[in-house]
Amino acid sequence: MVSLRQLFLKHQAQTSDFPLMIEVEKAEGLYMYGSDGHRYLDLISGIGVSNVGHRHPRVLRAIHDQLDKYMHLMVYGEFVQGPQAQLAHALCSTLPERLNNVYLLNSGTEAVEGALKLAKRYTGRTELISCRNAYHGSTQGALSVNGSESFKNAFRPLLPDVRIIRHNAVEDLEQITNRTAAIILETVQGEAGVRIPNKSYMQQLRQRCTEVGALLILDEIQTGFGRTGTFWAFEQFGIEPDILLCAKGMGGGMPIGAFIAPQEIMAVFKNDPILGHLTTFGGHPVSCAASLATLQTIREENLLEGVERKANLFRQLLVHPRIIGIRNCGLMMAAEFESFEVLKAVIDRAILNGVLTDWFLFCDNSMRIAPPLTITEEQIQEACTILLNTIDEVLD
Ligand SMILES: Cc1ncc(COP(=O)(O)O)c(C=O)c1O
Repeated sequence: MVSLRQLFLKHQAQTSDFPLMIEVEKAEGLYMYGSDGHRYLDLISGIGVSNVGHRHPRVLRAIHDQLDKYMHLMVYGEFVQGPQAQLAHALCSTLPERLNNVYLLNSGTEAVEGALKLAKRYTGRTELISCRNAYHGSTQGALSVNGSESFKNAFRPLLPDVRIIRHNAVEDLEQITNRTAAIILETVQGEAGVRIPNKSYMQQLRQRCTEVGALLILDEIQTGFGRTGTFWAFEQFGIEPDILLCAKGMGGGMPIGAFIAPQEIMAVFKNDPILGHLTTFGGHPVSCAASLATLQTIREENLLEGVERKANLFRQLLVHPRIIGIRNCGLMMAAEFESFEVLKAVIDRAILNGVLTDWFLFCDNSMRIAPPLTITEEQIQEACTILLNTIDEVLD
């Protein structure tokens, strides 16, 4: 009989020659269970997605309830669909008053696309700015503001009038001018390996955008929904964006994304041309129901409260001569090793030992640690013991 692995390799498009090839039969809470009976402690949450763990009962209930009512009814923005309206309301309740209008989509990269269009249309300008080592998604607009030349070059021509500046460099802020429609920035850079900008940089960035009339787009697709210990990471910098992006963790395991802006800005999509941004499946009612349940779970289980304590426990336990240092903003963590080769050997063996970690797109000597926020102290201890033993096994 043909195995699933054979079908995967033969018929599913591959994006690298070394996929992880873990075959999961079931996932629950912090754990994934392989078809071979192997159990994996998930320290990466499907790359920043399962913030409330796998198959959270509250999320499952919301999905079941919505399935019993309706699934897709109509393209986005025409019908009044309860889950969409309730989610939009709940999202706004987490935000400053000015950010009061939500456009729902299917993914992160679509949120980026919508926001870039909105900024160009609202300002009447064309220049877009982003930062070195930024990752904003894989479609052509999002790729245009990607901060890694090696990722983009093979796909040119991309969007014109894109400028890349250094991240966290105040001197480069003067490149944001009255020609700039928007600067897009991850509040904490994810794929660069968890790079946290200075508070004063973020405040000067905000001020510069306001001065020259450029919109500030904060990409919280990886940092949002509590990952960094506050519901949104921007809360830690004392600033507000003009447009906010979210996806990944917002769906509790279902696909969804959004860009959020003041109503006055969003309104430009209504005219010249009418229907300025369209999506068929954006804000799918089942995904919206799951997202609302995720938001309520984070609130009612007080998941934000534990984030800093749990992150500190990781920092306290993950001490080893081969770990050069740890960067973290809440439970968005990067443990640095001396090289990719060393890190890869550790990650591969850790999987065999039952702990799933990963590296970063633009930082291949650092281990990604971003567990569900529901991780317990015992599970952190278990994970760290396995990781430290794995490093010893592989490197000594
Ligand atoms: C910061 C950031 N922006 C955008 C994206 C793209 O999101 P998606 O993969 O849902 O299209 C990602 C995905 O990793 C991301 O980390």
